[in-house]
Amino acid sequence: MKASTILFFFFLSSFCCFSCIAQQRGASNAICSGIPWFDDKGDVVSAHGGCIVKDNGRYYLFGEKHSDTANAFAGFTCYSSTDLYNWKFESMALPVQPSGKMGPNRVGERVKVMKCPKTGGYVMYMHADTLGYTDQFVGYATSNNITGPYVFEGPLLFRGSPIRKWDMGTFQDKDGSGYILLHGGEIYKLSADYKSMAEQVNKNMTAGFESPAIFRKDSLYYFLGSKLTSWERNDNEYFTATSLQGPWIKRGLFAPEGTLTWNAQTTFVLPIEGSEDTTYLFMGDRWSFPRQASAATYVWQPLTVSGTSLSIAKYLDAWAVNTATGNVSPVEVGRKTIRNNNKKKIAYSGNWQADTASVMRSDEKGASFSVTFNGTQIGFYGLARPDGGYAQVTLQNSRGKTVLRSVVDMYCKFPVASLTFLSPVLAKAKYTLVVSVMGEKSNWSDKRKNLYGSTGYFVSLDKIVITED
Ligand code: GLA
Repeated sequence: MKASTILFFFFLSSFCCFSCIAQQRGASNAICSGIPWFDDKGDVVSAHGGCIVKDNGRYYLFGEKHSDTANAFAGFTCYSSTDLYNWKFESMALPVQPSGKMGPNRVGERVKVMKCPKTGGYVMYMHADTLGYTDQFVGYATSNNITGPYVFEGPLLFRGSPIRKWDMGTFQDKDGSGYILLHGGEIYKLSADYKSMAEQVNKNMTAGFESPAIFRKDSLYYFLGSKLTSWERNDNEYFTATSLQGPWIKRGLFAPEGTLTWNAQTTFVLPIEGSEDTTYLFMGDRWSFPRQASAATYVWQPLTVSGTSLSIAKYLDAWAVNTATGNVSPVEVGRKTIRNNNKKKIAYSGNWQADTASVMRSDEKGASFSVTFNGTQIGFYGLARPDGGYAQVTLQNSRGKTVLRSVVDMYCKFPVASLTFLSPVLAKAKYTLVVSVMGEKSNWSDKRKNLYGSTGYFVSLDKIVITED
């Protein structure tokens, strides 16, 4: 057999495996933060800097698709879900255009979508830019279907000119008016057709304040945003006001100081209005350059909103929200736990050492741990730290075939012991999980040449969790 034919069969068999695992999967029952998610096809969900739109009873998640190599615009994706846990890939809502401002080797970020009440059409907004961030403007695209395809229309104009700012967000008020939010806290009201900016309602009010997001509870508006540290996390802040015109009152942090917003950057807040309660879903990104496709994750937490106080006091690895009632409940991941010192169950290869925090860790490229189990789901907890690196995760079936491959990032500037990986729910069978040290780390520089990212390559294991049936 020719080498190319062998390669073809290898490709086909791994593809079949991945899709058969996708077909046999059960449903996930929780929102899990800080871990890669897998869609209905078994592919990693790539939808960062995004938003959720509820339309005809379904939730639509829009976000930035990324690659694992560069920051060039790779398209805006659309996924849908009824429960906010299980995501179906719908479409590449705005693919990379053949040329122009959303063409190859450009930047496209912070995609937001709103349905225009006047026209009934869907309008998508984004930050468009060059790779070096020197040509920023708010652009827009339109479609008659929520999932697209969207047609890129160019810059969104205010008094005939583009707004040359970068981080942006959107807010739709109860009366159907649409707003564009910009870094620094500027707010513009959209025209009735949502295709231009009609009026500036709030001026630049603070330094930084990237990734702006507004939500409303009763008659109070909450305005969330991050400081300016590129993809590095920082302690995000919020303001409140009784009118979008302000005055906006600075309220401070909404996550405990120093947690860097639980290692996340705000992107959107979704009110989940149920019959008994409304849950305000904080949607944040945990970026991971260069592996933004595989290893950047989502930090989605319920916000506690009480008067002018906003908080995420505790980080929840896994939790459930009933979209009918709006009620939140905690979720326990895995029914069986294997501690990292159980050498009968866990096979370590290479140099692993127990450290003061009682985790096993290694920074030796190729070092691995593995565990064989009979069940439907496996995950592991680790300690993400400033010297954490990337781990390659593979799941093999009893014939040694890889049925799932994933990359996780164990870097966090604010150290946190948390769920690091959780497989999709699988058909009950015997599998082996193998986690190995890649000898790579997330690191990058911004346009001012500031360096960010990990100082090491460590991968750590706290415990393994398994569900047997
Ligand atoms: C910040 C912005 C992102 C992106 C990165 C690039 O995190 O919020 O949208 O522009 O910087 O460094």
